[in-house]
Amino acid sequence: MRRFIKKALEIFQKLDKKQVYSLLVDMATENERLEMAIESMPDGIMVSDKEHRLVLVNKTAERLLHITMRDLNERLVWEIVNDQEVSDFIRQTLTNQEKIPEKEFTMNEGNGNMFILSFIITPYVKEGTVEGNLIHISDITERKKREARLRRAESLASLTTLAAGVAHEIKNPLGSISIHIQLIKKSIQKKKKIEQAAMEDHLKIIDEEINRLNGIIVDFLFAVRPMNTNLEKESINDIIEDLMEFIRPELESAKITVELGLEKDLPYLPLDVKYIKQALLNIIKNAEAAMPEGGYLRVTTRQEEGFITVKIADSGAGIPDHLMDKIFEPYFTTKEFGSGLGLTLVYKIIKEHDGEISVESREGKGTTFSLNFPIPQKEQRLIDFKGADNEV
Ligand SMILES: Nc1ncnc2c1ncn2[C@@H]1O[C@H](COP(=O)(O)OP(=O)(O)OP(=O)(O)O)[C@@H](O)[C@H]1O
Ligand SMILES: [Mg+2]
Repeated sequence: MRRFIKKALEIFQKLDKKQVYSLLVDMATENERLEMAIESMPDGIMVSDKEHRLVLVNKTAERLLHITMRDLNERLVWEIVNDQEVSDFIRQTLTNQEKIPEKEFTMNEGNGNMFILSFIITPYVKEGTVEGNLIHISDITERKKREARLRRAESLASLTTLAAGVAHEIKNPLGSISIHIQLIKKSIQKKKKIEQAAMEDHLKIIDEEINRLNGIIVDFLFAVRPMNTNLEKESINDIIEDLMEFIRPELESAKITVELGLEKDLPYLPLDVKYIKQALLNIIKNAEAAMPEGGYLRVTTRQEEGFITVKIADSGAGIPDHLMDKIFEPYFTTKEFGSGLGLTLVYKIIKEHDGEISVESREGKGTTFSLNFPIPQKEQRLIDFKGADNEV
């Protein structure tokens, strides 16, 4: 339809009155249809021109931001938005033409109701030049609530497996204690007395089993207790370099070649150094154990869209496919003296940092653990500023 109107406009001079009239009717219908589509969208839309004046706003945007058409009046977009934080964000993004993937704001309706809006600003381009911007606003309050519910369910589920693990772990020592008490009882019933040496043996075992029980409980509490993370702006590269300096001699004497590939000038991340070192150390210790004959360990960092990825790769034994789902489970171990809590703790630490952890492995070839940490918005913007400065 639009192409037809464009064509008609090209031969406008040659059209008679009736044809012009029908063209106008067609245009009005087309316009009405577009308007209806924009007005009935569940998301808010605001369009600004080259000078950042508001040229179009739909009903949802008016409702979400409490603005009315009367406000329009050729004003700059950020001037009609009441919320100071949102207004600053729009002004900054538009005037600097920053690339910000998505930004969320918590809005207060005044009556105690909170809701969360997400903003995406995209420039619209015609024949290679920016003609203005499209501001897309969505109410993500429900989505956020759903995510929080899911997280709670997830942590409850992991608590259940943890509890099941403890129940399983305490069975053996309790069984053993019970057997030795039975033996003591029997020998007392039989001879009315028990030899000191035999008694000492039984008590020694009971004592050991009680210690084992205590260890299980201590580990369990460590795994379930909320972590008091103290997040500070830190350089992940510095943390890795520090840790490697400490562990390199041990790895090298185990014939493991260490390679570091750290990307320069990474933005800072909110991290708790103590916990991040602990998580990395647990992963590296597992890698070391998987390479009894030696091999290589490669630690790399890289910035990707909104994330910093840390990869720890080894050339060790690998993890069989059927065990891949189990390795993060509490108490899962294939080692004779392993507690099976190393990776459970790593998982917990990475989650506390809003990060993601994944693992790829091939038997006989090696294993790679990937940790993804989201870069905070503020740090991302700093990079964009830097990029813009460099271009000038
Ligand atoms: N890099 C790796 N290569 C091969 N297998 C691995 C690797 N990392 C973990 N695993 C497997 O995952 C299991 C669980 O690891 P986790 O660190 O949780 O416990 P663990 O190392 O057995 O015990 P702990 O960490 O308490 O000493 C290990 O026993 C091992 O089978
Ligand atoms: Mg381990």
